[in-house]
Amino acid sequence: MGRLKRKPPSDEETFLRRFLGDPKRTGAVAPSSPFLAREMARAVDPQATGLVIELGPGTGPVTKALLARGVRRERLVLVEYDSYFCKLLAERFALTRVLRGDAYALRDTLAGRVTQPVAAVVSSLPLLNEPPARRLRLLDEAFELMGPDGLFVQFTYGLRSPVSREACAGRYIGRSGVPVLRNLPPASVWTYRRPGHAPAHGPKITKLIDHAERIGARFAAQRKATETLLNRQGDRMKEFLREAAERLNPPDERP
Ligand SMILES: C[S@@+](CC[C@H](N)C(=O)[O-])C[C@H]1O[C@@H](n2cnc3c(N)ncnc32)[C@H](O)[C@@H]1O
Repeated sequence: MGRLKRKPPSDEETFLRRFLGDPKRTGAVAPSSPFLAREMARAVDPQATGLVIELGPGTGPVTKALLARGVRRERLVLVEYDSYFCKLLAERFALTRVLRGDAYALRDTLAGRVTQPVAAVVSSLPLLNEPPARRLRLLDEAFELMGPDGLFVQFTYGLRSPVSREACAGRYIGRSGVPVLRNLPPASVWTYRRPGHAPAHGPKITKLIDHAERIGARFAAQRKATETLLNRQGDRMKEFLREAAERLNPPDERP
């Protein structure tokens, strides 16, 4: 009797396994939906010249969307930390440039491996798991690779720009798209450009963004206050239970 062939794991299974192995780095329990991936790819001009560097491609939903958008294979360079994902990506997309390395050390990771001009950097890295200074350094290193009209694309599950407006001030202009509600959890795609190269927003949109950012900040502050309160109540409850247990069973009466 022939041996049963094992079904290859689905992307969801693969992703969940990687997440359980390294939650901070994997940053999500499942791959991005095609809706979010399409929104990321939509920010990229398929006709522009120069490479498109994708950071943290995982199982490749954004890669697939970039190719579907018309970005030619030869223009794509993928940078992924996880060697299992690298192997899967190279096989799946027949890409020659799948680089295993640390995207947060972008300059060093690409040194000697990428010499052509870069048009855009498209990142799905879990930026919110990193300290703000590291996020800004990533943006700086990405823009060092690109000409004045360079573009950095990033998605986030957060309500605000993953690289704060204050950190970007004078260096980059960040713009958010409409949240992709069909992704779970909903996510927004942010694009960053150098000042003078970002498409203009109308005053209404600017006002809406300001408003959304204020709501986001208020929400974050309320969440923090609630967390502190819950922790305090949890500590009190533990203390109460400990005292109650001691009263019921005093240490000197224990067997
Ligand atoms: C949230 S997942 C996104 C995966 C995929 N792009 C998607 O949208 O489903 C983040 C990805 O970034 C990769 N990653 C995390 N830290 C990295 C680093 N320092 N350098 C390169 N890749 C990294 C993870 O291995 C994972 O594939």
